[in-house]
This record gives sequence, C-alpha cells and structure tokens, in this order.
Amino acid sequence: MSPSLSRRSFLVGGLATTAAVTLPGGLLSAGTALAGGADPSGRLGDPFTLGVASGDPAPDGVVLWTRLAPSPLADDGLGGMPQRVIPVQWQVASDEGFRRVVQHGTEQPRPESAHSLHVELRGLQPGREYFYRFRAQGHVSPVGRTRTAPAPDSRPDALLMAFASCSQYEHGLFTAYRRMAEEQPELVLHLGDYIYEHKAGPGGFTAPIGNVRNHAGPETETLANCRQRHAQYKTDPDLQLAHAVAPWVVVWDDHEVDNNWADEIPEKPEIPQPNFLARRSAAFQAYYENMPLRRASVPQGIDLQLYRRIQWGRLTTFHMLDTRQYRSDQACGDRAQAGCAERLLPERSITGAEQERWLLDGLDRSKSTWDVLGQQVFFAQRDFDPGDPQVVSMDGWDGYKASRDRILQGFESRDVRNPVVLTGDVHRHYANDLKADFDDPSSATVGVELVTTSITSNGDGFDTTVATDNQLAENPHIRFANSQRGYVTTRFSKKQLQADFKVLPQGVRTAGSPAVTRASFVVEDGRPGLNRTT
Ligand SMILES: [Fe+2]
Repeated sequence: MSPSLSRRSFLVGGLATTAAVTLPGGLLSAGTALAGGADPSGRLGDPFTLGVASGDPAPDGVVLWTRLAPSPLADDGLGGMPQRVIPVQWQVASDEGFRRVVQHGTEQPRPESAHSLHVELRGLQPGREYFYRFRAQGHVSPVGRTRTAPAPDSRPDALLMAFASCSQYEHGLFTAYRRMAEEQPELVLHLGDYIYEHKAGPGGFTAPIGNVRNHAGPETETLANCRQRHAQYKTDPDLQLAHAVAPWVVVWDDHEVDNNWADEIPEKPEIPQPNFLARRSAAFQAYYENMPLRRASVPQGIDLQLYRRIQWGRLTTFHMLDTRQYRSDQACGDRAQAGCAERLLPERSITGAEQERWLLDGLDRSKSTWDVLGQQVFFAQRDFDPGDPQVVSMDGWDGYKASRDRILQGFESRDVRNPVVLTGDVHRHYANDLKADFDDPSSATVGVELVTTSITSNGDGFDTTVATDNQLAENPHIRFANSQRGYVTTRFSKKQLQADFKVLPQGVRTAGSPAVTRASFVVEDGRPGLNRTT
C-alpha cells in the first residue's frame, strides 16, 4: 500500500468513527470521553465535539482552528463551557503519527470568544503537508491534515481543489462533504451558505420533499443562537471529515446572516428589523469564531474583513470576494423580474468601490496562470424565461450589470491570462462561458464561470428540470445545468483547468450515496472558453 493510501484510510477511517484517536509515542494521551457537560468532579466532558479545521494557507503557515464545546447545543451558545479560560495545547507534525513534531504551543481560549481558537502558524515550509491536533482537560482532538501554499515564485505542476456551497442541515445529510473529502483535495473553497438562519418547523425552510433533521434553536438573531447554530453544523461527522482533510478558504453568502441581506439592509426592508445591525454583528462574530480565519478577519465594530487573496505559487491566485457586505440594495425590490431599469445604473455596485479597486489591482499585478474569483452569486447573465422580455435575478450580478461589466472589461484591459469565476448560491451546477456581450453569442468569450450546486439545500433534486431546460435554450453561453446535490472538483495545471461536476444520484435523504461525475469540462491555458469532455 502506498503511503498516500495508508494515510487515506487512517484519516478517513479515524475521523469517521471516533473523536479521540489512539496516539503513538505517548506525546499526548487521550482521556476518557465523558458524555457532555461536566462530571460530578467538575471535569469537562470531551470538548472536541466540533472537530478541527485549518484555513487560509500561506507559504509559511496556515490557521489551525477548534472550539471547545462539550455540550454543543447548549442554548446559551457557549457549548457547555465554564466562564473561564481553558488552556489548550496544540501540536503540528510532519507525519500523521506525530513522531516529528515541528511546532507546538498553548493557547488560552476565552469565554468571550466562545472558547474558539485560531492558531496562526508561521515558519513552516512551503508546499508541504502537515498534521495537527489539540489537547485540553485530558482530552485529545481528532487529527487534522493541512498544507502550506507553494513558494510565491514556484510553479507547481498541479493543484486539486474542490469547492462547495449551500449546506442546509435540515434538507439532507452531508454525504457530499464526505465524498468531497474522500477525493483528498489539497484545498477546499466554501462559497457561502455554510449555515442557514431559519428555525425548524413552520415559518422555517422546508425542502420540497420535506426535511430530514431539525435546526436547534430559533431563527438566528442573537450571538447565542448564531453560536449554537454553527456548533450544531460542526457536530456533523461528514463536515468534520471535510474540514480535517485539507485547509479551507471560506467566504459567506446571505444565509450566514439573513436571506438576501445587502450591506446594512435586511431581507425585507418593508418588515422592519430595528436590530438588524446587532444581528449582523452577532452573525459576523459567530462566523469568525467558527471558521479557520486569520486575525485580519477579527470583527471590527459592525464590519468583518473577508475579501482576501490566497496565492498558490504562480499557478493560481484566488481572489476571494465578499459580495454581501458592501453591495447596493437589490434593484426594483429584489426577486427575479423583467424590465427593471434600476439594475443597469452605473453607480450600483455589488462589491463596493474599494473592493472593486482591490480586485482590479490584484488582477493587474497577478503573474498567475489562473486567476480565480471565489465568490457567491451568479455572475453570467441568466435569462429565466423563453422569449422576450428577459427575466433575471436582482440578487446576482444581473442586478448589478455595471459592476459586472467593469470586471469583464478588467479581464480584457488588464490582460488577465485565464479568468475563472467560481460561484455557489443557486443550488444547481452550471458551466458558463463569460461573454464580452451576453446578448451577442458571437461576441468574444473572455473567461469561464463554474457554479457548484448545493451540498444539501433543496433536497435530493433532479438531473434536469423545465427551468434548467428553458435556461439552456435561452442562454447559449450556459453550457450545462444540473439540479442534483454535489460539489465540483478542479484540477489546475500549467496547460489546462479540468472541472468535474459531481452529483449524488441517490440523494441526501438517506446516507451512503456515491458521488459520480455528471459532466467534465476543460479550459486550455490562454484559450478562454469551456470544452466539454464528459
Ligand atoms: Fe443557499
């Protein structure tokens, strides 16, 4: 068995079955897991019920994350933890057996941060795999695997990256996260709707064929409930596995806060939410606490700096965008509609002026073969209905046409070698050619967009629907659409990008569906546009 195969069985098997692992060498000894909360002696139960994670890899380091929560669903959001600092030791090793520990330390997670930990490592080697684990109160965490980015001027041969979005816990089991983990990606991008804000039951969010499990707590408007919701999601073993196999780079969309929120404006301005900024702050705070983000993303007032770049040598630059926090309000009252002149106004922006400048400057300076925009909402034009007039979504880039035009023109004027837009949000797979003028199919193709379907949102779904058939007929630049659950894997190399659209044919209501490749596309270096191969 090759080293990589034995590693796979160790990681996938170990994380699937148990939180505490048996450790060689006695470096850390696993304590006896107790059943939540504290035992009569005051000793905490296993505090590692939320798993481990890593994120935002740089050439010299990565962020390690965990959060202590012996009773993850506690109503106060504090996971059954006492109101005091609990020291946590951590180790980083170059081997999965922790015989070669390269760094270690102790953190002091505080109740004010829901006992979350963010260890921002420095001094690691570029382009290397590492293993990490935590210990607290005699308990040892699961082992996570992570990876540093390649050296900035290096030219790695390839990168296997997977991306995902829209994981509504009630709508299905997280089998797609498990299948994604089993592919052993080097990097995972999550493009938003990592949690959903709704309460369970009436007034909540029910999938077309019903929900398979329930959210704990009410709709998330308070810090306690946002923390509780994140904790509930993180208890899922499939999600824990996906975090433990590779570093993640995350951005939010709307449901981490409130459906279709825009900057300081809630979903439905006609239904006043006088507490919306407090709600936004609480959601941001809980998001930071529960994600492997760098200190640069510690919330400041009502803001959280989320847009940032991740560099993979000279192969790929990931420009991670935040299209929620700075956007103009949706035009013409939101929703899909025809004939809205407001959506065309040049002063409207989905990124805000500052982020737009940052993106265009970054594209200008990039020396990468592939420039990836990791972002939330549908970028290409998408006319929903046959014939005229066009019916488009006010929440995607169609509702901010001037914003989109400035980016598309930026691809051309800054000579971006291979622009690739990655998207989530719509609970369907799509593969799109990006056109200089979407209304003129003969205009130049200037880049591509890959849209991932949901992990679970909307339930099992269908291969084709009347809606997707109509959209394929009406939008020749949309080359593929599918409404099942799944994720997308991408393999970047110097010569080409290959994208495999994965779906779960047995759905998400029951466990165990395989993931199959429903369609594959290749983009050749220097030749914008999708070539279907499967
Ligand atoms: Fe979603």
